[in-house]
Amino acid sequence: PAHRSSASPSSAFADANGPRQPFVIGVSGGTASGKTTVCDMIIQQLHDHRVVLVSQDSFYRGLTPEESERVHEYNFDHPDAFDTEQLLDCIKKLKCGQSVHVPIYDFKQHRRSSDSFRQVNASDVIILEGILVFHDQRVRNLMNMKIFVDTDADVRLARRIRRDTVERGRDVNSVLEQYAKFVKPAFDDFVLPSKKYADVIIPRGGDNHVAIDLIVQHIHTKLGQHDLCKIYPNVYVIQSTFQI
Ligand code: ADP
Ligand code: C5P
Repeated sequence: PAHRSSASPSSAFADANGPRQPFVIGVSGGTASGKTTVCDMIIQQLHDHRVVLVSQDSFYRGLTPEESERVHEYNFDHPDAFDTEQLLDCIKKLKCGQSVHVPIYDFKQHRRSSDSFRQVNASDVIILEGILVFHDQRVRNLMNMKIFVDTDADVRLARRIRRDTVERGRDVNSVLEQYAKFVKPAFDDFVLPSKKYADVIIPRGGDNHVAIDLIVQHIHTKLGQHDLCKIYPNVYVIQSTFQI
């Protein structure tokens, strides 16, 4: 869902300093590393700003009838599985303050909803999360901050088995087969090499409260001194003293 605070939030486009582009954060990491969890924690702490979360998963391509018949042979972890042009277009529009329609992806059917979408409106912060959001240089270049969620592979596999069997309509055997055949090799070939583009690497994902606090402080700083002073009134007092 599009996240919005209930208080009257400041706008990215009309603050006292004039027009300002939204702050774009990329969050990458292996499957089930805790990307969504980390994003939700950041969003919770940015309650005085308008924040939207966009998932790369929403931009999975539909399968051809032949691919659908042999879905266990389809590689959902390869960069070509995503419609990156559409993702790029969407983030560019959001960055310019335009609203966009984001597809709704169904992991059980392996396809997008044909009759519904999610409307995402202009915001102060755009968070783009996904296993391969650092892969394409053009997408990377739109990001003001890049975060890689680094969680051990055994922990990720255990979480993936539980999630895919409970939420995504899979059985344990198919999860393990897909993991060995596609997920792990693509992690080694595409996801891990993109870690080098990260500004911040978070070990242990959502368990790492210190890292998340530091990231949120940085975002507040980037969103403006005025907003920082609302959060840390004492900082304002100290700065005033120095100015005198
Ligand atoms: P990703 O977005 O990287 O796929 P999620 O944040 O959706 O990862 O987490 C994947 C699964 O692992 C979810 O079922 C989630 O509830 C669980 N999970 C995520 N972080 C933790 C954590 N720190 N401790 C326990 N379970 C977690
Ligand atoms: O949420 P997470 O980052 O784990 O989502 C990405 C994963 O979803 C990929 O590793 C891919 O294997 C899996 N996927 C799937 N079936 C689909 C689409 C993606 O298993 N139809």
